[in-house]
Amino acid sequence: MAARAQRYTAVAIVLHWAIAVAILFMIPMGLWMHESAEHGDVGANIFRAYQLHKSIGLTVLALSLVRLAWRLINPPPPMPEHMPGWERFIAKATHWAFYALMIGLPLSGWLYVSTGWSIHDEAPLPVATHWFGLFQVPALFGLNQADLGVREDTAEAALRAHAVLAYAALGLAALHVLAALKHQFFDKDEVLAHMIPGLRAPNETEPAPKDPARLAIVGVGLSAIAVALAAAMFTLLSGGPTTTSPQAQSSFEVVETPATATEAPATVTTVAPPVAAGQASAWRVDAARSAIAFAFSMDDGSGNSSRIDGRFARWHADIRFDPNDLGNSAVAVTIETGSASDGVASHDAYMREPGWFDVDAHPTASFRATDFRRRGEGYEARGELTIKDRARNVRLPFTLTIDGDTAVMNGTVAIDREAFDLGKDVEGAEMISRNVDVTILVQATRSP
Ligand code: HEM
Repeated sequence: MAARAQRYTAVAIVLHWAIAVAILFMIPMGLWMHESAEHGDVGANIFRAYQLHKSIGLTVLALSLVRLAWRLINPPPPMPEHMPGWERFIAKATHWAFYALMIGLPLSGWLYVSTGWSIHDEAPLPVATHWFGLFQVPALFGLNQADLGVREDTAEAALRAHAVLAYAALGLAALHVLAALKHQFFDKDEVLAHMIPGLRAPNETEPAPKDPARLAIVGVGLSAIAVALAAAMFTLLSGGPTTTSPQAQSSFEVVETPATATEAPATVTTVAPPVAAGQASAWRVDAARSAIAFAFSMDDGSGNSSRIDGRFARWHADIRFDPNDLGNSAVAVTIETGSASDGVASHDAYMREPGWFDVDAHPTASFRATDFRRRGEGYEARGELTIKDRARNVRLPFTLTIDGDTAVMNGTVAIDREAFDLGKDVEGAEMISRNVDVTILVQATRSP
């Protein structure tokens, strides 16, 4: 019978509980993230969860490496003498398997995010990892710069490994807890007391001596774990902006009134000036052959940038245009901001957030032009683009081919997104180029 059980060092105890609590918190969180992303839910709360998961996971990796080094320098208390060889072997194997998992599990997660590839969207997702928002974590092995095929294959293998290791950790944790309880209640030995501060082993005859330094380290360490856990729960549960409805409908109506041919001043308006209705021909847009597209470049934070193309799926244009009567020509375009898509579900969800299009508050954007001029072989429309209630004068150069009653118009204008409060002061927005090219391609037939 042990007179007094030896304990793990205070540092080992604090690291043990910090890592255990973190892993048990991270597994349901990771599963929830995975399920949400699978179902296309990639709103702000999920985005926050991903960043938190990555930050806590990398902390677990660092703490596990410290714990391993500490363990190699400070041998653990000896196992009870009554333990048979096979049980000692299983205990040791379990403990070393835990070290392998504590390091391999976060490493596989880091490997996955390093690829900048989303297995849900099967597309690049260059979202940088910021450790608790303090600094950017580099991609492992420069994976974010690798060929797309390598990134895709690595992402799939890494995430599969991440899930398998997480389940293995759960299984091992269950075994570990059962073994600890067996020692405490069946064997009635000192094993559990080695690791639980203040717990007296059933076979102990003398209480552990009070060591103020040890008590202080354990006290501060366990309090820090409790605060960190509370902060993590708060971050996850505190209401941030939630996903906005992709189906946000526009209630905007274009009212046609007589022309005002002068250029509208760039003022903040909620309803753009009505379209002119002069003598110029009216055109009906052929939706299948027309598009309002946008393009920007996205940097993954490591200098690797790729061009992203997207378009608005829902918009409406009223066009009166006559090359021989530019003074009476007018165009009014209304775009549903919630229909912006670049084909990557998570990008589309971010675009609907308040920091970007803020679709709930601003379901539509508009372009109004009544000032048309000839420019070289083509034309220039001078009008007002209004996004998020910010109206700015823009000049849209375009080409126009009229063949009988069919017209094809094509123009591109580069806009400074920050002038429209798009992605200003939004975390991660620095990865998106400030200039966004907006291309308008319209095929229309002359209205009878
Ligand atoms: C203690 C460490 C960690 C634990 C216990 C853990 C646990 C998990 C679990 C259980 C999942 C769900 C897996 C699935 O069903 O596919 C998951 C997902 C994920 N983990 Fe971890 N993880 C850890 C560390 C990390 C680290 C360090 C990173 C990145 C730096 C990371 C990134 C991710 C990502 C991005 C996902 C979601 C993948 C998806 O979109 O489906 N994890 N994690």
